[in-house]
Amino acid sequence: MLIYLNGKYLDYTQAQVPVDERGLQFADGIYEVALIWGGQFVDLDRHLERLERSAAGIELDMPLSRSEIREIAAELLRREPQKQAALYLQITRGVAPRDHRFPDQAKPTVIAYIKDAPVDHVALQQGVKAITEPDLRWLRCDIKSVSLLPNVLARQHAAQRGVREAIQVRAGVGVTEGSATNIWMVHQGSIVTAPASNWILSGIVRSVVLELARAEKLPVAERFASAEELFQMDEVFLTSTTSFVMPIIEIDGKKVGDGEPGPVTLRLQELYLERLDQIAHVTLG
Ligand SMILES: Cc1ncc(COP(=O)(O)O)c(C=O)c1O
Repeated sequence: MLIYLNGKYLDYTQAQVPVDERGLQFADGIYEVALIWGGQFVDLDRHLERLERSAAGIELDMPLSRSEIREIAAELLRREPQKQAALYLQITRGVAPRDHRFPDQAKPTVIAYIKDAPVDHVALQQGVKAITEPDLRWLRCDIKSVSLLPNVLARQHAAQRGVREAIQVRAGVGVTEGSATNIWMVHQGSIVTAPASNWILSGIVRSVVLELARAEKLPVAERFASAEELFQMDEVFLTSTTSFVMPIIEIDGKKVGDGEPGPVTLRLQELYLERLDQIAHVTLG
């Protein structure tokens, strides 16, 4: 596996960072995950724009321009061609003696590599199960920070219960999002998802699915649903770069609707997959 680390393309075993790397010490960094489909990057510009917003959110000057990052991504894919995979990108505040304050001298650490991202076709067709969990995260969930401990705990609790995702519910706010996915609900044909705000990571797939739903003239409300409402929904689904549009058929052991993936979910899934294939096809053709 090839790793880009601070200007060099290295073998996995050669790519190492010091112990006082601030990503390791303080989770003082940001990241992105972008899909590669049909050998093409999908929505890379949207991901890079969000990366820049995340950098601003942690008061970090971007060490590379958007075109420089595009070039690194393209070079990784040239050296290790993949049809279907994901690009992982991480930028931290660099290496410096341990001190909470920003270092004066440190140069940000930039890491990029391409990783496997297999598509779970069975889950896309049959749906997955979820649990609810209290949302214990900080107040800036809009920043895609590598500080993911509450998300890690939520996902682990889901795994311990034998289900795919934990749907987080913020006290006083409502249903926010999954541990690494955005959450959508459908009631009597109307779609509900949490508004882009400090309470969620505004997903790139979320933005695409909003556009697809509006183009289909499906009614969409960006608002927080309550935990009680979640259990009255006809359909629930999740979205993310590596999960696409995935039906949720059971929450906390209770069936969603009739316990089968619903028509709105499956229609949006179909539109999303068609869009992916168009991107791969158009750029290949
Ligand atoms: C907390 C959280 N919400 C939502 C998402 C979905 O974002 P995207 O559609 O950009 O993959 C992610 C992706 O990793 C995430 O970590």
